[in-house]
Amino acid sequence: MTVNEIRAKYLEFFEKRGHFIISSASLVPHNDPTTLFTGSGMQPLIPYLLGKDHPAGKRLANSQKSFRTEDIEEVGDNRHTTFFEMLGNWSLGDYFKKEELPWLFEFLTDEIDLDPSKLYVTAFAGDERLKLSRDTESAAIWKELFAKKGIDARDVVIGSQEDGARLGMQGGRIFYYDATKNWWSRAGAPENMPAGEPGGPDSEIFYDFGLPHDARFGDECHPNCDCGRFLEIGNSVFMQYIKKSLPAPEGSFGLLPKQNVDFGGGLERIAAASENSADIFAIDVFSDIIGLLIHFSKKEYTDSRYARSFRIIADHIRAATFIISDGVKPSNTERGYVLRRLIRRAAQHALKLSVGDKDKEDSMLVRAAVVTIEKYKEVYPELDGEAAYKEITETIWNEEKQFALTLERGMREFERIASTGHIEASEAYTLFTTHGFPFEMTLELAKERGIDVDEEGFKREMKKHQEISRAGVTQKFRGGLADTSEKTTRLHTAHHLLLKALQVVLGAHVKQRGSNITQERLRIDFSHGEKMSKEQLAEVERIVNEKIQEGIPVIRTEMSKEEAEKLGAEHEFGAKYPERVSVYSVGPLDKAFSIEYCGGPHVSNTSELKGTFKIQKEEAVAAGIRRIKAVLQ
Ligand code: SER
Repeated sequence: MTVNEIRAKYLEFFEKRGHFIISSASLVPHNDPTTLFTGSGMQPLIPYLLGKDHPAGKRLANSQKSFRTEDIEEVGDNRHTTFFEMLGNWSLGDYFKKEELPWLFEFLTDEIDLDPSKLYVTAFAGDERLKLSRDTESAAIWKELFAKKGIDARDVVIGSQEDGARLGMQGGRIFYYDATKNWWSRAGAPENMPAGEPGGPDSEIFYDFGLPHDARFGDECHPNCDCGRFLEIGNSVFMQYIKKSLPAPEGSFGLLPKQNVDFGGGLERIAAASENSADIFAIDVFSDIIGLLIHFSKKEYTDSRYARSFRIIADHIRAATFIISDGVKPSNTERGYVLRRLIRRAAQHALKLSVGDKDKEDSMLVRAAVVTIEKYKEVYPELDGEAAYKEITETIWNEEKQFALTLERGMREFERIASTGHIEASEAYTLFTTHGFPFEMTLELAKERGIDVDEEGFKREMKKHQEISRAGVTQKFRGGLADTSEKTTRLHTAHHLLLKALQVVLGAHVKQRGSNITQERLRIDFSHGEKMSKEQLAEVERIVNEKIQEGIPVIRTEMSKEEAEKLGAEHEFGAKYPERVSVYSVGPLDKAFSIEYCGGPHVSNTSELKGTFKIQKEEAVAAGIRRIKAVLQ
């Protein structure tokens, strides 16, 4: 079945069952400064899952364009993609497990015709420490559904991924996993959830491609094993909890005002299952692109030297096409940088297939984009029409051309370095960062010339670089924290208290110019001309500790940028914010101690900071800019 057929069937199926079909939100999130791209169908629905009434009612369904940046490096194997469509259906305080699981099963087995004997399911094993019970209800529903298809579904208890690798299938059909596997929230497992975050146990459904187990992934195979035998095709989250207060474990969850269902299923994965193909790139939306590349490159997809390149081009250009149609342009920051990387990485692999392009008309990347536009334009109007066509194809072609120039210059530099007979890690790194010359190319060209490159050293340099740039993103979004653990969250709130205390003690000229928070300490850069005195430091510490003692609520409010500006909310110098912003105040807005633009997360009350705030270091970082490092002891 094609992707378009499955999507249509899914939406029709849920529409018949009383769901209103909402359109896909943009890949560029509107109200959420904490994330670069929309990565799941539930993301735009957070306010409704938290209890707000949705204008379209209590039953919603859609297919949501989704993009996950963290998967870029993984693309190239038979299952990872960056862009995907997530089929979603939601109950906002309406139906629950008894309806959701049978509908899903009916859809997959009767509408898509998946063989029920190839389906395996999971349920939440429960967590005594968090006082969360085992989801025997879902297991019982699954048991009955399988029985109707003549399958005796045994349930077995696994626990974690590691337990699975040890325990294996045990003749089971329904598998209980712990919260590391069968719990869903935007922040992941229960202990990573900030206060106010909704989440709940989930029940996943896996398709068995029947491949032999690959022992590199563990002694035994089980549904959550990554060896390639099983593929998760859908996940029903029973969104019924809200993280109450930090820290875990006791009593850290409350019930949401309503019990919700949040189902998400990977459309491309379901299509792969319907073809019984473990290679997701065999489905129509990819295979049409790959067919074109085979034709022009005269290389075979079955040739293991080239499979990765075919897949990377197909995935990256499909993703780039959608991202461009949502208004993103290639650049060196944030979304633009991700887009740039997608196009350049695809261009690099086009070269590997020796299909370097001389003009726009014969550019493989442009052709791949055109296939994508044709496939999707009826469902996604943003891809339709002359203007969209022009914007997409020209953006890709211009970026491809620019990259070719970069490569030409990088090539000269490479030749210069290589002429010495060896390439240091630092040289490969400079080639990459200063000249934009991809490391894979350095490796390949070096190999051709019989020159060794220090790969490990290069990776170490890269890691350092990534840490710095991640800190950059944190700083820009003011708390779209990469790490949302409890320790980091506490220091994040302490950071807000500190900025305000610095303004109280030093004056209103103090503005934040940078920040970085780890589990161990916080760091703030701020505008101030001279070294702080001992007395000033002591006074800042005293104020912060006083606010911790007072136990003030920390409140998140969403408002227009204009309103936030009127309230005098702190924002970082030079940072750009969307039209609607999230604001955190320490205390109610009308008498808050501190108000800042911020994506969170934060503790819900300053008393949760626990411990004493202590400044460890105060120093200059640039003219007129000071830096403080501080901890909670
Ligand atoms: N939110 C869940 C997921 O992303 C289900 O929609 O998997």
